[in-house]
Amino acid sequence: MTKVSVVYDSSFKGQTAVLAECVAEGARSVEGAEVHVIHVDQVPDHWSTLHTSDAIIFGSPTYIGSVSGKFKLFIEQLAGEVWLKRMWKNKFAAGFTISAGRSGDKLNCLTQMVIFASQMAMIWVPQHVLGGNYSTAGSEEDLNRMAGYLGAMAQGNIDEPADVSPPESDRETARQHGRHVTQVAAQFVEGQRALPFQEETPYDAEGEGRPLGLAELPG
Ligand SMILES: Cc1cc2nc3c(=O)[nH]c(=O)nc-3n(C[C@H](O)[C@H](O)[C@H](O)COP(=O)(O)O)c2cc1C
Repeated sequence: MTKVSVVYDSSFKGQTAVLAECVAEGARSVEGAEVHVIHVDQVPDHWSTLHTSDAIIFGSPTYIGSVSGKFKLFIEQLAGEVWLKRMWKNKFAAGFTISAGRSGDKLNCLTQMVIFASQMAMIWVPQHVLGGNYSTAGSEEDLNRMAGYLGAMAQGNIDEPADVSPPESDRETARQHGRHVTQVAAQFVEGQRALPFQEETPYDAEGEGRPLGLAELPG
């Protein structure tokens, strides 16, 4: 069984929520996957689900070239125990975002997510679908039409509701991303059984999260 959580914010038109469902759909298409979709407002009721997930996929709309304020508030809650005790170490992380502009500075939003994941010692899974819509033969119907690789990028017209925008090409790109991340996580979970992780010393023996000094390293 591979446990995957999709944590997202969507506050303006519900367009990121549509993508979150698509990512989850892709994840569910992997045999043996258990998938949870969690809005950032609901995180307080779902910490144990997150702590026991093999992969956590972040989703945020791009607001002013950044993750949304609500999404950042969720991330800042990780700065306690989760960060200090390396609780999410070696969980897989991935991301998706949407903005109204073709660029809209959404790369920055995904870059922020990579840094959030890295601070938690998570393993980032990029968008694997080859970028589309880059030649005269291309079109808006191409998968990964935004041709981004850090995560799944989508574009939603600001004057259209979430049932119309983003278009199907972005939705399918999000499905593919969810499926891919889940398969990578599934392989890792299975691999861990065959080759258990050898002991590491992420923090002091008392578990207080104090950085280690050289003298404290096990011989
Ligand atoms: C406060 C705010 C800031 C936004 N900033 C950007 C931006 O920097 N670049 C952009 O292209 N679109 C921007 N948008 C448009 C949203 O990214 C776009 O409408 C997105 O699909 C909204 O997702 P949601 O419906 O899930 O909230 C902004 C929208 C809002 C409400």
